[in-house]
Amino acid sequence: MAARGMATAVAHPNVALVKYWGKQAGAGNRPATPSLSVTLSGIATTTRVEAAPADRLWLNGEEVQDAKVAGFLAELRTAFDIPGLAITTDNDFPTGAGLASSASGFAALTTAVDAAFGLGLGGTERSAWARRGSASAARSIFGGFVALVERDMEPIAETVASAEHWPLAVTVGVASRRMKSVGSTEGMERARATSPFYKAWTTSTHDDFAAALRAVRARDFDALAEVAEHSSMKLHALTLTSRPAIVYWAPATVAALHALAQLRRAGTGVFASIDAGPQVKAFSALDDADEVAEALANVPGIERVIRCGIGPGAVVTEAG
Ligand code: ADP
Ligand code: DP6
Repeated sequence: MAARGMATAVAHPNVALVKYWGKQAGAGNRPATPSLSVTLSGIATTTRVEAAPADRLWLNGEEVQDAKVAGFLAELRTAFDIPGLAITTDNDFPTGAGLASSASGFAALTTAVDAAFGLGLGGTERSAWARRGSASAARSIFGGFVALVERDMEPIAETVASAEHWPLAVTVGVASRRMKSVGSTEGMERARATSPFYKAWTTSTHDDFAAALRAVRARDFDALAEVAEHSSMKLHALTLTSRPAIVYWAPATVAALHALAQLRRAGTGVFASIDAGPQVKAFSALDDADEVAEALANVPGIERVIRCGIGPGAVVTEAG
C-alpha cells in the first residue's frame, strides 16, 4: 500500500524479566546491559499519525507538550524527510506509572510513522529507532519473549521464544495510578552516577540474562522465578541506594509482595516483578491466574487488577 501520510499502529507494553537500568556513555540511547522481557497482551497503546502544518500531540485526549516525543521526532528527521505531525495516542492503562507506556508509546509511534511516510523500515530497524525514543520500546516492536542485547557493537532486539512456546499469565496489581515522581531516564542516570552498587549491577546482569534465557528456553518456571525476582529486587536496590534515593514502591506494593510470597509458600508457582513504579506484575501458569488475581485483588490498597498474557509485537492497523 502506498504511504499517503496517515497511519494507525497498536503496540503493547512489556515487562522485563531481566531489567534494563543504565545506559552506555554517548548518543543513541544504548543500554549498558542486556535485558529480556515479555510483550503483554491485554493492554495497549493506539497511535494515529497524520501529516500536519506543525507537530501537535494529543495523549489520552489532552493536548500535551512532551520533550521525549519532541526529541525523538527531531532525531528521526535527521535521517528521514517527515512533515509536521498530528499525533493522537491513547494508552488503555495508566500512563507514566510503571506500566511501560514509554515502551508501547514509542513502539506504536515509530511503527505508525514508518507506515504513514513509507520509511521502509524492517522490524530490526524499526526497533532500533524506537530504542532512541525509549530503550524498552525496542522490545515492544516484537512479540513473545524478547531480548535486547549488544551485537557487533549495536543494540539489537529480537524474539527469543514465541508466546506459544510458554504462554504464561501476567497479572498486574495496580498499587497507584499516580505518575511517578522520577522518570526512568533520570532514575537510571542517578543510579549510574551515585549508587555504590551500580558496577555490581552491570556485571551481574550479564549472568542473570544468560540464566533467564536458559530458563525460558527450557520452560523452567522455578529457575525463571528465582532470577527474575532477583533482577527486579536488584533494580530497586539501585534506586534505594541512589542519592537522593528513589522509592518507587507504595505500601500496597509491599503488601502485594507478601501476599504473593504466601501463595508461593502454599504451593502456587508465582513470582513478582516491579518496574519504575509501584505496580506489581505477577507471573504464573495460565491455570493459576485466577488464584493470583484473587490474591492481588484482596491486598489492601490494590486499586485494580489487570489480567494480561504474553502478546504480539507492534502492528499497523490502518494506513492511507
Ligand atoms: P512508564 O512507566 O509508563 O513507561 P515513563 O515515565 O518511563 O513511564 O514514561 C512516560 C513517557 O513515555 C511520557 O512522558 C512520554 O514521553 C512517553 N509516552 C507515554 N505514553 C506515550 C504514548 N502513548 N505515545 C508516545 N509517548 C508516550
Ligand atoms: C524499569 O526504557 O523507560 O522498565 O530508555 O530512558 O526511556 P529510557 O528508559 P525506559 O526504562 C525502562 C526501565 C524498566 C526496566 C525495563 O523495562 O527493562
